[in-house]
Amino acid sequence: MTTTTETHGVDPDPTPLALLLLGRQADPNSERGVECPGDLPAASDPGLVERARTAKAALGNRVFILGHHYQRDEVIEFADVTGDSFKLARDAAARPEAEYIVFCGVHFMAESADILTTDAQQVVLPDLAAGCSMADMATAEQVAECWDVLTEAGIADATVPVSYMNSSADIKAFTGKHGGTICTSSNAKRALEWAFEQGEKVLFLPDQHLGRNTAVLEMGFSLDDCVLYNPHKPNGGLTAEQLRNAKMILWRGHCSVHGRFSLDSVNEVRERIPGVTVLVHPECKHEVVTAADMVGSTEYIIKALDAAEPGSKWAIGTELNLVRRLAKAHPDKEIVFLDRTVCFCSTMNRIDLPHLVWALESLVEGRVPNVITVDPETEKYAKAALDRMLALP
Ligand code: 13P
Ligand code: SF4
Repeated sequence: MTTTTETHGVDPDPTPLALLLLGRQADPNSERGVECPGDLPAASDPGLVERARTAKAALGNRVFILGHHYQRDEVIEFADVTGDSFKLARDAAARPEAEYIVFCGVHFMAESADILTTDAQQVVLPDLAAGCSMADMATAEQVAECWDVLTEAGIADATVPVSYMNSSADIKAFTGKHGGTICTSSNAKRALEWAFEQGEKVLFLPDQHLGRNTAVLEMGFSLDDCVLYNPHKPNGGLTAEQLRNAKMILWRGHCSVHGRFSLDSVNEVRERIPGVTVLVHPECKHEVVTAADMVGSTEYIIKALDAAEPGSKWAIGTELNLVRRLAKAHPDKEIVFLDRTVCFCSTMNRIDLPHLVWALESLVEGRVPNVITVDPETEKYAKAALDRMLALP
């Protein structure tokens, strides 16, 4: 992330990104996978747009390109559908005729697409280093250890796991195996309502903020009903009594992008732009969401701005690619980025036109690059958890 001195927070021109070299320096021990093989054309190649068009046209209905709202403009241009993580999961499942699903998003989304698509379909992630730091904050070993701690405290039987979509397939499988559901930022309340019909407590993974914000601001729980389980401390840093008294056991994970917004950013923008409406994503800290006027998923943010009055003023607390696109799409409204510092998601940004062109041209040549495959055992349980989410009322 870099900083901008531009007054309204939305940088009119793309800021050069301090990204890792293409396909290099991935952490092999994390969810992010391995190096991207093959030679990649340079980002500045003006022929790339034409090459992407040609390759996409050659593939026709054999390929379906999904683009998350945080993707770069140059990538979104080639997406057959765009959406938040819930919509993209549903869209991936609804395209059984496409041989290849090219997922322009991050690793956990591509895994979910693989789980929800048929065995005949292959899911391609154009850069394997497009991971998610939040998903990396809960590993299968840590979560299994946590369940042992809950079992020792005598509460595992009364606890239902609810895992945010932003988690690895292993964590989704753990969730399915223990009778829980997946949620996204657009259905977290419904998922929690369902979970509290099944049990007395919820173990919410891995985003503490989405869990706390939903439980306290939408479900009527108090902050005292929530405890924070720290996987880096013995017994999560909690006593058995604290665990027994809690309704919401929140995993100590967060989004490094949304974690940057602070109460100061909200106060500062209100002072700077009188009459501004502050709209933030629920991955923001509790104090930020509490101080904001509105909260919702990326899809919700887009709809709110579509419905907004001309001349209205908005400060948006979510990833910058989306905020910048919204500002361009609504020149009749004043739309600024909530914070004064640039806030791209660096892993979402790893998918760029060179990677997309490389993936599409590889498919045209009969090679299927960067296939994301979840093993059958993991898939079985992860699918159970995802299906529960898709069946939520
Ligand atoms: P949604 O697309 O569900 O709003 O989530 C945002 C996000 O951080 C995805 O990584
Ligand atoms: Fe992960 Fe945050 Fe990036 Fe979403 S915005 S992919 S939660 S790091």
